[in-house]
Amino acid sequence: MSSLHVIILAAGQGTRLKSALAKVLHPLFEKPLLAHVLHSVRALPVESIHVVVGHQHEAVEAFLADYHQRHALPFPIIPVRQAEQRGTGHAVLQVAQAPSAPTGGQVLVLSGDVPLVRPQTLAALLARHTAQAAHLTLLSAERAEPTGYGRVVLDGERAVRIVEEKDTRPDERRIRQVNAGMYAMDWAACAPLLSRLSASNAQAEYYLTDLVALAHEAGLTTRVCPMADADEMIGVNSRADLAACYHVLRQRALSHWMAEGVTIVDPGSTLIGPDVTIGPDTTLLPGCCLMGDIAIGAGCDIGPYATLSGRVRVGAHARIIASLVRDAEIGAHSSVGPFAHLRDGVHLGDRVRVGNFVEVKNTTVGPDSNAAHLCYLGDARLGAQVNMGAGAITANYDPIRDEKHLTVLEDGVKVGCNAVLVAPLTLGERATVAAGSVITHDVAPGDLAIARSRQSVIAGWVARVQSQQCPAEVPPAR
Ligand code: UD1
Ligand code: CA
Repeated sequence: MSSLHVIILAAGQGTRLKSALAKVLHPLFEKPLLAHVLHSVRALPVESIHVVVGHQHEAVEAFLADYHQRHALPFPIIPVRQAEQRGTGHAVLQVAQAPSAPTGGQVLVLSGDVPLVRPQTLAALLARHTAQAAHLTLLSAERAEPTGYGRVVLDGERAVRIVEEKDTRPDERRIRQVNAGMYAMDWAACAPLLSRLSASNAQAEYYLTDLVALAHEAGLTTRVCPMADADEMIGVNSRADLAACYHVLRQRALSHWMAEGVTIVDPGSTLIGPDVTIGPDTTLLPGCCLMGDIAIGAGCDIGPYATLSGRVRVGAHARIIASLVRDAEIGAHSSVGPFAHLRDGVHLGDRVRVGNFVEVKNTTVGPDSNAAHLCYLGDARLGAQVNMGAGAITANYDPIRDEKHLTVLEDGVKVGCNAVLVAPLTLGERATVAAGSVITHDVAPGDLAIARSRQSVIAGWVARVQSQQCPAEVPPAR
């Protein structure tokens, strides 16, 4: 096959979203729309990707650079500025006029706002384009509700032209064969036609869709590739379209994971994103949101009401009940919740218990350790078999210097209830802290630290107060 290049159109503002954020950066399951498109493109043997940027181009370019680095892509992603958004045809022309423009081969033109397209659909488009020796092939499907999409006018198997919604005559408006906005082009044949596009239409824009008529009239071979799944063409122009994308991705994931042996008790209240993997015999109880890059092992019980986002790894047979987990690893056979909050880099070893009303932030917890009730663990390193009593916390933040400090609890440390561990602090192996202590100095291995005022007892005090019928003043400590 000849060389393959990709152009993604991503310069538009997305007026209909009424948003401060550029359209292609809108998140869909915690990933910008543009990342979904790039994800499908990455699976193909591409040599370069040009992305046409305009609206909020700095933010889009920063995203692209980060994406390229994070995925260590073996081909360049080249942003090309379109200073004024004068239409999709004008956008592709910017690439054709760029110094880095493809010099030939096949070019796939995609939209940054059409996020659901699968790699196999793009592969099918290219295969058909090549098999039919076409110069221009567009992805297309019949939609019961074609409103908003360009209508494809066919003559047998030839694509004759595309009419945009706003330019349709009443009879054309009834055409249900619509343009998905994704095209395979023989670049040497199609690129010269770009400069012949005109803006004499309802939106006064240079439509890329007019390339079909230009190519057809020039005697080039223009074809349509039908889409097996019309959902893949949903373009995000409005918030309703965005919700439709969530719906489709979620249904895909639900069907897939149930077929892979996951019990989903209430699919209607369960949200699973495209970057989630779940082991067999795991049960998702109602109210689970699995949003980001999430991998859950086999035999886990998740929910009811658990939200996992960011990057989360859950070992086999773990349990998460009614909790919020963001950027965390949870070891096998560990238990989280109810009402726990794990965030910003948490690593729990195997058989760890993080229970009711416990917050854990940027903290590592060794195997068989417990923080079962009402704890805060922030910027801490806990070894194995550490026990945090109810209400014990790390005081990790120095508000005067605005600094965070580390607390180290070596293996076997036991911290009594309501203790405050003022960081920076190290408690040596098997050290013990008495309940209610405020610990400000390191404790050596095996020692007991107790830091609280001694208890005084006043014998018979209750009876004395009652008989004298005087105010129950608490006597000063002795
Ligand atoms: C476009 C197609 C329509 C198709 C639909 C499928 C045209 C004229 N129409 O319409 O036939 O059914 O997609 O989703 O192509 N963009 C730029 N620069 C511009 C204008 C747009 O980069 O000057 C980008 C946008 O950011 C967007 C993409 O191109 O990512 C498509 O533009 P949009 O305005 O959404 O086109 P549609 O009206 O959806
Ligand atoms: Ca669109």
